[in-house]
Amino acid sequence: MGADKPVIDTSVPHSARIWNYWLGGKDNYPVDRQVGDQMIGVFPDIVASARADRVFLGRAVRLLAGERGVDQFLDIGTGLPTVDNTHEVAQRANPASRIVYVDNDPLVLAHARALLTSAPEGETAYLDGDIHDPATILREASRTLDFSRPVGLTLLAIVQFILDDQEAYAAVRTLMEALPPGSYLVLSHGTNEINTQASNAAVDYWNEHGTPPMVLRTAAQIAPFFDGLEILDPGIVACSQWRPEANVFGDPVPVPHYCCVGLKP
Ligand SMILES: C[S@@+](CC[C@H](N)C(=O)[O-])C[C@H]1O[C@@H](n2cnc3c(N)ncnc32)[C@H](O)[C@@H]1O
Repeated sequence: MGADKPVIDTSVPHSARIWNYWLGGKDNYPVDRQVGDQMIGVFPDIVASARADRVFLGRAVRLLAGERGVDQFLDIGTGLPTVDNTHEVAQRANPASRIVYVDNDPLVLAHARALLTSAPEGETAYLDGDIHDPATILREASRTLDFSRPVGLTLLAIVQFILDDQEAYAAVRTLMEALPPGSYLVLSHGTNEINTQASNAAVDYWNEHGTPPMVLRTAAQIAPFFDGLEILDPGIVACSQWRPEANVFGDPVPVPHYCCVGLKP
């Protein structure tokens, strides 16, 4: 999968590096920071959205690896390594957890070693793969994951880069069909149902200056990703509002980034 020698183009802003910038990371270039800052100007919510998405990933993986006994994860659209990567959260609950990471950004590949620091009891692997080709991802991932046992599929802020609804639903369906009952889908997705005007302006700006192009979806457009699955409470909600930790400052403010977790019965 992918090229043998990754080519990192530092002249074109890229989603993984801009996301890393918003999360407070260091793995980004001036061109990424420039577009990242301009996006913040158009859409100040973006930093809170990116951070709420990461915190949701941690809460959902903790639930699956802890209470729900899932010890295998397929994390597509991994992003650059940051604090509390999927394997760190899962292996804190169960050191024997096995995680396959998938991304198509050469810079993520260059940093993949940081994603491969598995606990000795478990295993992590990294694939240079594309969500537009889920069959190849499944074939390669099956070297590390046992698809006869439940898997947590984590798709955080990634299917928004599949512009066509039907292609996006089909990609997720192909992935979930390969997983046995007891598997989970953990998904997050940018939306324009919260702060509509600013969200639309931000995505227009992104599609003019960022890469790859993206689309925002409503809760009604996100629901079909969960067809045939049992949706866990509280359903499709802003990432900041999915089972939030108790907070002395009151209820968390909704960010324009939805999330949801579903169980394959
Ligand atoms: C917005 S970041 C999200 C990172 C991480 N999942 C998170 O939620 O913090 C999107 C990631 O998806 C990756 N990506 C975009 N298009 C992709 C594709 N077609 N196949 C695989 N990965 C892709 C980008 O390289 C980037 O790392």
